[in-house]
Amino acid sequence: MADITRRTFILSSAGLLGSCLLPRAIWAAGIGAPRGPAWAASPGDEALAPREQLLFDFGWRFSLGNGADPNKDFGYGFGQGDFSKTGSFKIATSAFNDSGWHALDLPHDWAVELPFVHDDSGDDDTRLTSHGYKPLGRRFPDTSVGWYRREFEIPESDRGRRIWIEFDGAMRNVALFVNGCFIGQHDDGYTPFRFDLSDFLNYGGKNYVVLRVDASFGDGWFYEGAGIYRHVWLTKMDPVHLGRWESVVRSTIKDQSAALELATIVQNDGEQPADASLEWTIIDAEGRTVAQATSPAQSIAANASGHYQATASISNPALWSPDEPHLYAAIVKVVVGGSVRDGERVPFGIRTAVFDPDHGFFLNGKPLKIQGTCNHQDHAGVGAALPDRLQSFRVSVLQGMGCNAVRTSHNMPTPEWVEACDRMGMLMMCETRHMSSSPSGLQQLETMVKRYRNSPSIIIWSIGNEEWILQEGEMAKEGERIAATMVERCHELDPTRVVSAAVNGNNEQGVSNSLDIIGFNYHLEFPDKFHAEHPKRAVFGSETSSAIATRGEYKTDKTKYTVSSYDGVVPWGESPEQWWTFYGSRDWLAGGFAWTGFDYRGEPTPYGWPSISSQFGIVDLCGFPKDYYYYYKAWWTKAPSLHVFPHWNWAGKEGQQIPVWVYTNLDEVELLLNGKSLGIKQVPRLGHVQWDVTYAPGVIEARGRRNGQTVLVERRETTGPARKLRLAADRAEIDADGQDVSMITVDVLDDHGRPVPTANHALSFRVSGAGKLIGVGNGDPNSHESDKGSKRALFNGLAQLIVQSTGQAGAIHIEAVSEDSAAPSISSASLVVKTKKTSAAVKRVS
Ligand code: GAL
Repeated sequence: MADITRRTFILSSAGLLGSCLLPRAIWAAGIGAPRGPAWAASPGDEALAPREQLLFDFGWRFSLGNGADPNKDFGYGFGQGDFSKTGSFKIATSAFNDSGWHALDLPHDWAVELPFVHDDSGDDDTRLTSHGYKPLGRRFPDTSVGWYRREFEIPESDRGRRIWIEFDGAMRNVALFVNGCFIGQHDDGYTPFRFDLSDFLNYGGKNYVVLRVDASFGDGWFYEGAGIYRHVWLTKMDPVHLGRWESVVRSTIKDQSAALELATIVQNDGEQPADASLEWTIIDAEGRTVAQATSPAQSIAANASGHYQATASISNPALWSPDEPHLYAAIVKVVVGGSVRDGERVPFGIRTAVFDPDHGFFLNGKPLKIQGTCNHQDHAGVGAALPDRLQSFRVSVLQGMGCNAVRTSHNMPTPEWVEACDRMGMLMMCETRHMSSSPSGLQQLETMVKRYRNSPSIIIWSIGNEEWILQEGEMAKEGERIAATMVERCHELDPTRVVSAAVNGNNEQGVSNSLDIIGFNYHLEFPDKFHAEHPKRAVFGSETSSAIATRGEYKTDKTKYTVSSYDGVVPWGESPEQWWTFYGSRDWLAGGFAWTGFDYRGEPTPYGWPSISSQFGIVDLCGFPKDYYYYYKAWWTKAPSLHVFPHWNWAGKEGQQIPVWVYTNLDEVELLLNGKSLGIKQVPRLGHVQWDVTYAPGVIEARGRRNGQTVLVERRETTGPARKLRLAADRAEIDADGQDVSMITVDVLDDHGRPVPTANHALSFRVSGAGKLIGVGNGDPNSHESDKGSKRALFNGLAQLIVQSTGQAGAIHIEAVSEDSAAPSISSASLVVKTKKTSAAVKRVS
């Protein structure tokens, strides 16, 4: 694009110019595989016929292999035979007996099942800290390779269709074999990939698919899991079909109506030319048709493709926003000779998104501060293999503190996370893993942009994070070129969104010169100066804070590897109050993304072993809030909010000073100890109030006032000993589809029914009936208990169970029992979660 620079290009297309505060045309469209809204039928539903997209998650067998010894790796690489003749790979034929492999369903992360290994040899890049002390890497050949195998049938009636196996992602280096034939490989751990199996299948009989997944290499410096940790699909289509991720819906809003530009590509994989026309039906969230369009027939030669366009308009469109995430869907059908040959459903939203250098971010023409968090993709109990419902759970936890945006640090996200953000109204900065314009770097970027460019939640593409060498190092000049190529490719595929990167530095050279908008990681000393010197460049905080805290701990204790909840922060970071006071009080800053929303495995800062997870989260690994969750809640939400901490169980500290903090957005707070006032304090904007209180058991009470009226009162009471366990489900009824989960919180109460915040009792669980226990956690960064066992201690009063339906309608019975011999008097708890069959269940490979 010669010397229309990337920046002028995006300035004109997305309205970044200072003078242009009015929303400009923004193209927004949707993603596949939706679940949830009434209109969003499952993949494989009738509306898309004759296309079938079948979930291929169930009925697999798995075995660990070996990265060093072919004798322990099913003979793989023993000689030259594996690839020498097509059809000769025995493991993927009926000749192989996999009865010694164990049965499982996907998604699956074998790393989370491995024991923790204390290995601190080497430097930061080679130690096991990044993996959270899970033994992955070439030094751990016994646990770094996994094999997956499945038998499946293809009916005779499928002959003539194109049949793909599609992976949403696998960690990492996949080699795929079908019916004895080597089919292909895929290297990186985050992009989806697929293979056309049509020529290799046995129609009307049995077929065998085998994957060797090698997680010896990682893609990042954080816990990444291992195995097929995202969904797998078997997709069957007519030879004349829509191109993958080629359907795009873009909208321009004018005079109370949205003009839609519709585009796609039809591929003819058949042997004859086809005269194909297109039908577009736009439906709203209730499934009502709101617009229709057609694209006239084109003759597409065999093995060729045709580009199609159409326009439509929607009057009085319901705009997408975090408060009201209205979605539409375009149903695209390919018609040949009067019959429908293929179809797909493209969810999209209608909205404008503009970054302004002087006034920050605007959604639908209104200023909106980005109140964001960065997040990795793992969770307690399941590692990187999250059931879909858990994505929504995580979004709702973040929304509870007013978070309105997430950054998919540092990789292409799983589809269900993006879908949850679209459906629930969470903005996204969507990041690719490798900053590179090499063929593989561009391939990763292109896949991400094409896959998600219809998603209304995404407002920024990120081409990478903290690439020191390309930024300020010896390759800064090359960095500028590499970034320029990546930015240009994003614009070609999606001219509606800005492109940025997360830069740890002054943004004055290298990569930064090629970006549309400027993201600062940390370093509050840089943005003001940058803004003064580059007044036409919009700025946001791509990564901020890195505050650290152990949930429920109020002392930094190096012998217990805990971090105080008052104001822990790493040397390069800022407390929540420090960074938000900065970003929240400058209109020209668009807001930012705190590191991190959730704790994650790996990067066990500040201690290393025996800590196995990070402590950066605003919530812990389970999603239980740390105290500073309520700092954000106070200043990121409008409703009155008040939180007083710490707990008031300080036996043995009578007469000693205990700091008591209050996070609130009210005007003033009065603190009382056992009914006696300790004074009233005015709340500084974006700040907090605190007292030093001489400890006496009883009650501390914070009374928050606005305009002289008491609006909220919060207490912490000294509890008695733990007496009775309690179980609570986030959802009392779930789908009987073998995938849905209920998130169960476990706590323990005293004689007066008060939760005991310091309880750490050992517990065990029994789950029976129409469900199973797929993971346990407690948010303790130092716990080495298994995520997969049926035991887990409470950590500072809390534990979490993830219970999944097994496919039967009925009831899941859950029981929690104390195993603590020192506290025999704690009574057990039980709970029932119902499971019910729904018609919306995704069709699957039988
Ligand atoms: C940043 C980096 C993150 C994480 C964080 C910890 O520099 O981008 O991935 O490592 O530091 O503070």
